[in-house]
Amino acid sequence: MTLNTTPLTRRGLLLTGAALGAGILAGCTSTPPQDASTPAATDAAPNPTGTPATGVQAQGDRYGVGLYNTRQVADELVWIGEEVQSFKGGEHKRVLITGSTAGAGQLAAAYLLKRGHTVVAHARNEQRAADVHRDLPGLEDVVIGDLLDLEQTRALAGQINALGGFDVIIHNAGEYGLPDGELLNSNSLSPYLLTALVTPPQQLSYLSSDLHLGGGLRLDEVRSGEGIGYGDSKLHMAMIATAAARVWPDRQINAVAPGWIPTLMGFHNGNTTTPDSLRDGYMTQVWLAEGVEPGSDVTGEFLFHQQVETRVNELVHDTQAQDQLLASCAERTGVEFPAES
Ligand SMILES: NC(=O)c1ccc[n+]([C@@H]2O[C@H](COP(=O)([O-])OP(=O)(O)OC[C@H]3O[C@@H](n4cnc5c(N)ncnc54)[C@H](OP(=O)(O)O)[C@@H]3O)[C@@H](O)[C@H]2O)c1
Repeated sequence: MTLNTTPLTRRGLLLTGAALGAGILAGCTSTPPQDASTPAATDAAPNPTGTPATGVQAQGDRYGVGLYNTRQVADELVWIGEEVQSFKGGEHKRVLITGSTAGAGQLAAAYLLKRGHTVVAHARNEQRAADVHRDLPGLEDVVIGDLLDLEQTRALAGQINALGGFDVIIHNAGEYGLPDGELLNSNSLSPYLLTALVTPPQQLSYLSSDLHLGGGLRLDEVRSGEGIGYGDSKLHMAMIATAAARVWPDRQINAVAPGWIPTLMGFHNGNTTTPDSLRDGYMTQVWLAEGVEPGSDVTGEFLFHQQVETRVNELVHDTQAQDQLLASCAERTGVEFPAES
């Protein structure tokens, strides 16, 4: 994935609930754009109200094509609804996925739900919670918190702990193209805080990227809050995973790169093609969560499409560098990482 960093406009649109126009979507899809109301995105299942207890109405059409999802994600959600069979090969899991209102996180949530697992979603605000309640009927719950705001992340950890134990937590949420200080909060410090503050489940997965290869530790920037780039944040995500795997050797903890896939993030900056399979981009997380297929018990690794990735930044498995990163995150947040057992 070779995305360039520019100031983001999408976040502002999402936060205000405004839609991306059809013209923007046209520039964002690798296939000729279709109208968002075509049957593929809207007719696969009854359209529930998307009105949670707060009374906020879901926005746009089901799956939010052109608003928060691409046509490809919407079509994949329809495929999941029509084709995926219930899971009979093992134990059903209780799974929490951060950033499950769109993209790869929403696809993993939809797939696991269809398999019969129990899924709790996470949304940045009430509006996005209403959207995911409508898009993914059957969720056990939706927890809410904007990971750009570390106070909200702390409160989110409290919400998650109040729901009781999970078998699996997938740290999937990620921003792209924001000013560096904001990326530090959403992509590095929030997953750090959630890892440190939430009761650890039996399995943790962290969404990284091949762009972690060009990332650096940036310890001064982490301590000062000055900020880091996207590649740095994805290196941090992978290192939080390998550090957590060291701290909790009895748990299964990995970093996962989804590939460059056709979510809204994949089409950032007007890219019109993405080289990797959307399905492969979320199936590693599903494969790990179900944990029945050969090799799915792997831990402490960086994975790509259900294989251990060999092209990994050497800092990922450098325990001294991991400790330095954890110490800098602790200094910035005031929250210590759990000690090695
Ligand atoms: N797409 C790619 O090619 C690619 C490549 C490598 C790695 N990745 C990684 O894969 C993960 C999933 O990405 P994606 O492609 O599925 O992106 P996406 O379609 O943009 O979805 C990102 C999800 O994270 C949520 N999120 C982002 N920032 C948040 C915040 N501050 N607070 C709460 N929720 C937040 C989004 O919520 P909203 O819908 O409200 O924004 C959305 O649900 C990310 O960690 C990303 O870095 C993606």
